[in-house]
Amino acid sequence: MKKAAAIEALKFVKPGMNIGLGTGSTANHFIEALGAKVKEGLDVRGVATSQASKELAEKHGIPLTTLDASPHLDLTVDGTDEFDGEFRLIKGGGGALLFEKIVASSSRFMVVIADESKKVRKLGKFPLPIEVMRFGTKATAWKMERAFVLLKLDAKMVLRVKGGKPFVTDGGHYIIDCTIGEIPEPERLDALLTSIPGVIETGLFIGICGIILMGTPKGVTEFKRG
Ligand code: 5RP
Repeated sequence: MKKAAAIEALKFVKPGMNIGLGTGSTANHFIEALGAKVKEGLDVRGVATSQASKELAEKHGIPLTTLDASPHLDLTVDGTDEFDGEFRLIKGGGGALLFEKIVASSSRFMVVIADESKKVRKLGKFPLPIEVMRFGTKATAWKMERAFVLLKLDAKMVLRVKGGKPFVTDGGHYIIDCTIGEIPEPERLDALLTSIPGVIETGLFIGICGIILMGTPKGVTEFKRG
């Protein structure tokens, strides 16, 4: 289902485009499919949202550029951890949320590719990743706790760990995963969290995604924001 959605996203790709390349298993399917088109002669350039995506794109022969060289991208194709009926997303399960958000918000439009398990009525089933500075992480976490209390949310916060050590993002930061449950006001939560010194970015993507391609056992369903 992930692969089917990824292949369907190729229909938005046109020659000459600069394309944001997402991170994760679904985005990997897209990078592979795009690489096959490049081998057939398609002229595009990619901007990777992580070291892993960069390496995969290089392996599949996709010419790469940077956001500094091409600050206005035509399209970004990326996966998600959750999406709701308002095209709001939770991303960052793979730890690339900061670069993903910078790249997607620099694109004329963002196409999200996902299998149907990612569709939710209300965001919050998936723990919300928050990217934070390594300096003063405990002080930042304490302020985040206050923000959750203010919104009457009972959040459990855990510093992401990999291989017995705190996970460090490509941007050099930590991630705090917040198990919240249903988030009644994602916009308010996002605004409160991003106002905290030390919070770099949240995994809430609001007003960025325009099209969702959802793979189902019966085929790919397309959702388009008005
Ligand atoms: C990485 C992400 C991914 O898009 C998200 O975790 C979905 O991953 P997958 O496609 O492997 O299910 O946000 O930071």
